[in-house]
Amino acid sequence: MTSYKVGYFVGSLATKSINRKLARALTKLAPPSLAFMEISFKDLPLYSYDYDADYPPVARAFKDAVGAVDALLFVTPEYNRSIPGGLKNAIDWASRPYGTNAFTHKPSAVIGTSPGAIGTAVAQQSLRSVLSFCNSPQMNAPEAYIQFTPGLVTDEGEVTVGSTEEFLRNYMAEFHAFIGRVLSGRPKNS
Ligand code: FNR
Repeated sequence: MTSYKVGYFVGSLATKSINRKLARALTKLAPPSLAFMEISFKDLPLYSYDYDADYPPVARAFKDAVGAVDALLFVTPEYNRSIPGGLKNAIDWASRPYGTNAFTHKPSAVIGTSPGAIGTAVAQQSLRSVLSFCNSPQMNAPEAYIQFTPGLVTDEGEVTVGSTEEFLRNYMAEFHAFIGRVLSGRPKNS
């Protein structure tokens, strides 16, 4: 299996984030040929194009981290039927200055969990729209809308429901295959 570096974003800044638990589970269930690094955005200032002439070091490091990986995994909550503001701010930073968008041609996948039955579906559609504009090829399927029931994923990232564990393992295997197709330019069945 070809190895790839995957940068992951956890859309929540909350200390007890259920999406952080999900992210931990995903990194454990993924094929070993995927190497993960979290791309943190919590220290970024609010973006303005006033910064474009000279990004502050924290934003340069953040954007370099996006550029350094082969693919991106977004694990995000739904806030008010969209993605959290911090995550959108981070995407804006990495997409600019104009002509240096770090997402171009970088394969991505979107997943998230919430206690609600639709499991971040609306936020994911919103994020997909942003990533489309940023020219990131996205894994279309499988989709993953995870309803977080109490104890579904432990703090250590163990999934306690077998069917969910299997679903997430398959999701990451599909992501590995998708990254390979995008980066090699291969269509699915060749
Ligand atoms: C929420 N929550 C929420 N849930 C949902 O399914 N749809 C929504 O639109 C919202 N909106 C929303 C806004 C704000 C500001 C907060 C703080 C929360 C509930 C949310 O799913 C729940 O708090 C999760 O625990 C958030 O995920 P993290 O931050 O724990 O990973």
